[in-house]
Amino acid sequence: MTETAFWHPFANMADVTRSRLTVVRAEGNYVYDDAGGEYLDATASLWYVNVGHGRAEIAEAIAAQARKLSCYSTFGDITNEPAELLANRVADISPMPDSKVFFVSGGGDAVDTAVKLARRYFVEVGQPDRQVLVSRRDSYHGTHGFGTSLAGIPANRVGFGDLVPSVALIDRDDPEDLKRLASELGEGSIAAVLVEPVIGAGGVYPPTDGYIERIRQICDEIGALLVIDSVICGFGRLGEWFGPERFGVVPDMITFAKGITSGYVPLGGVVVSSRVSSPFFDGAGSLFRHGPTYSGHPLACAAGLANLDILEREKLVAKGSELEGVLKEALMASSDSSIVSEVRAGVGLLGAIEVTGDFLKQRPKSLSEIQLGMRRRGILVRPLVSSIAVSPPLTVTEAEIDRIGSSFVDTLKEVTSV
Ligand SMILES: Cc1ncc(COP(=O)(O)O)c(C=O)c1O
Repeated sequence: MTETAFWHPFANMADVTRSRLTVVRAEGNYVYDDAGGEYLDATASLWYVNVGHGRAEIAEAIAAQARKLSCYSTFGDITNEPAELLANRVADISPMPDSKVFFVSGGGDAVDTAVKLARRYFVEVGQPDRQVLVSRRDSYHGTHGFGTSLAGIPANRVGFGDLVPSVALIDRDDPEDLKRLASELGEGSIAAVLVEPVIGAGGVYPPTDGYIERIRQICDEIGALLVIDSVICGFGRLGEWFGPERFGVVPDMITFAKGITSGYVPLGGVVVSSRVSSPFFDGAGSLFRHGPTYSGHPLACAAGLANLDILEREKLVAKGSELEGVLKEALMASSDSSIVSEVRAGVGLLGAIEVTGDFLKQRPKSLSEIQLGMRRRGILVRPLVSSIAVSPPLTVTEAEIDRIGSSFVDTLKEVTSV
């Protein structure tokens, strides 16, 4: 398969046409290619196969729902059973009491929904000038219009012309930078602050001590909404349902996707606190003119319900924190390599090995060399900015994590020796 019409996301297609990995099957923590090769899925695809691959229970739930009601709009007053059940279940496990759940098709949709809702909320409560949306340097909030404008990875923002106005970036690690921005912009300017509990696609950066707690305090002081973007960090990745629970923080909204269905069917959404939902639900209400076609799609919601059953029954949510120390130790074995400047892990089941700037300058393709070296050892990992990241399924074993660690050591030796 050399020439096809398929244009891959986030890919230089000139490179892709020279080599492709065609995955044909997956089971548990492993995926298989068209030549019969077996790979440990050390990234859980794109951070999302929390329950592992090939769960018949989810496939059957989707099939049963497809036979009964495979699709129908939920615009206006129309609803369906799986959407109702899943919304209630997500609201119940969220850290916000009496929350509402708005379903969309993925993480980017969820981010656009949350920030549009933040701005609309302030219109409803008589503060229409509160428009500024804030994100952190190195953060990733998807590739939709708002997410692109909020991108903390500069390369994800450039080349797209004029983006959404009234957005601002703050320091990744110092919460006081939000305070500085708020006083620079003047009172009543900031609508929402977006925070990933652990920055994922920007290179896996756990928060500095007290960061998330302090951001919550400052949001309260300046009257801004706190949106926790748990698209990666949810459904057990940090050992909790959403992630902010770890820090004792109750946000105003939470965006989620990925792990809600373990990726078996695309689904995303926003958990909305009663503070933010009330102008739209109470009294005469107000129409939120927003919602993608597949909001509350019955197949996606049926997959979500089956996925939550597995996460609960097998106690997988806790695995995200139970295994974080094991993963950190395994990755730390690479910290002796002369081309590794930092190992970031220890908060949740995700981590990254940072390659030194000098080596990246000298060997610009070294991240893909490491990725391919790991692949030859039967392990799928992912280059991220200037690092290589892992985020295995929550079903990964300690022996498999050790294998990831020792394979990194061997691969880094190989890459530095040529
Ligand atoms: C924190 C975060 N927000 C939003 C998104 C966008 O999600 P999607 O790719 O489903 O649009 C991602 C994707 O990785 C993400 O990591």
